[in-house]
Amino acid sequence: MPTDWKHVIGVSDIPATGLVECVVDGRILAVYNIDGKIHATDGICPHQGGSLGKGSIHGCVVRCPWHGWEYDVTNGQHQSIPAICIPTFETRISSDNVEVRFP
Ligand code: FES
Repeated sequence: MPTDWKHVIGVSDIPATGLVECVVDGRILAVYNIDGKIHATDGICPHQGGSLGKGSIHGCVVRCPWHGWEYDVTNGQHQSIPAICIPTFETRISSDNVEVRFP
């Protein structure tokens, strides 16, 4: 079943830190601009609910601001616990706007 692309944020509205928390259709996402490439993951850390969009980015790894769990934003993989992987979402840029598609 086809799904729609959803507007998330203007590319230029992503802070210089390279990441931001966004809410799309009631869902909390973290959106990243890494050297001009846009990524999106679920925005809630599965450890205890920290906001990944308020964390920090190191290469392609986001660090949760609460206790430091780290995830690869390109595939959602936790960096030290193989069993943990957060959802990632397909993104595209349309007229300088970030759009995301939910599965
Ligand atoms: S809530 Fe993210 S590391 Fe604890």
